Amino acid sequence: MPTVALVLAAGRGERLGHPLPKGFVPLAGRPLLWHALAAMEAVAEIDRVVPVIPAGALGRYRTAIAGAPGLRKLAEPVVGGRERQDSLRAGVAALPPGTTLVAVHDAARPCVRPDAVRRVIAAARAEGAAILAVPVRDTIKRVVAGLVVETPPRAECWAAQTPQVFRVEILRAALAKAEAEGLLGTDDAQLVEALGVAVRVVPGDADNLKITGPEDLAQAEWLLLGAARGGHE
Ligand code: CTP
Ligand code: MG
Repeated sequence: MPTVALVLAAGRGERLGHPLPKGFVPLAGRPLLWHALAAMEAVAEIDRVVPVIPAGALGRYRTAIAGAPGLRKLAEPVVGGRERQDSLRAGVAALPPGTTLVAVHDAARPCVRPDAVRRVIAAARAEGAAILAVPVRDTIKRVVAGLVVETPPRAECWAAQTPQVFRVEILRAALAKAEAEGLLGTDDAQLVEALGVAVRVVPGDADNLKITGPEDLAQAEWLLLGAARGGHE
């Protein structure tokens, strides 16, 4: 039952504002992308790890990542596209034959715990579609043109993380429908929701932060170095 992790790293990292593409920014002694790939590698249920990288980054990828030790499950890199969804589509098109389950993960989340990945994979295997998420602490407002238009009940609000895991036929159908209808989702599950398929929410943890701005790097480094000391897992 081959399970494949697609690790999306083809963004421009504009908000990080680093001269290197975000996946190659150094973090605890390794490129950021390496940590996300290694986290997937550490999960026994994952058979293969497919990185999706920016056009023009192949040379840098070969030296910084493909040559690094410890990544036995790594497949050939795929070149991503303009929007995250284009990168997802490129990754899905390059899945190895026989893939049954796909775990889509943001390279920008290098601190995900293998145990959380295992839990979300198990849920998707049983139910078809599952995501990691954490309950929000703040009250969420929907705001249009500077005015609050809605306050969804906080107890029902969760912040979506990755991995988001799907049976491959569900993800393929969701991408086809999104393309036909011009839907551009901000996460993968949104496309699956639009198909009418139920998406199971698996509680994750706050450590699985997304590196967005420069201030996130120090926190991620602290978490990764803590994990290396045996802080968790
Ligand atoms: N991503 C991608 N292809 C794109 C856009 C994003 O593979 N065309 C990936 C990013 O590399 C990242 C993840 O999707 O791992 C989440 O995106 P985000 O955190 O927004 O990263 P960037 O798009 O790189 O950053 P920014 O929006 O600040 O430019
Ligand atoms: Mg982005």
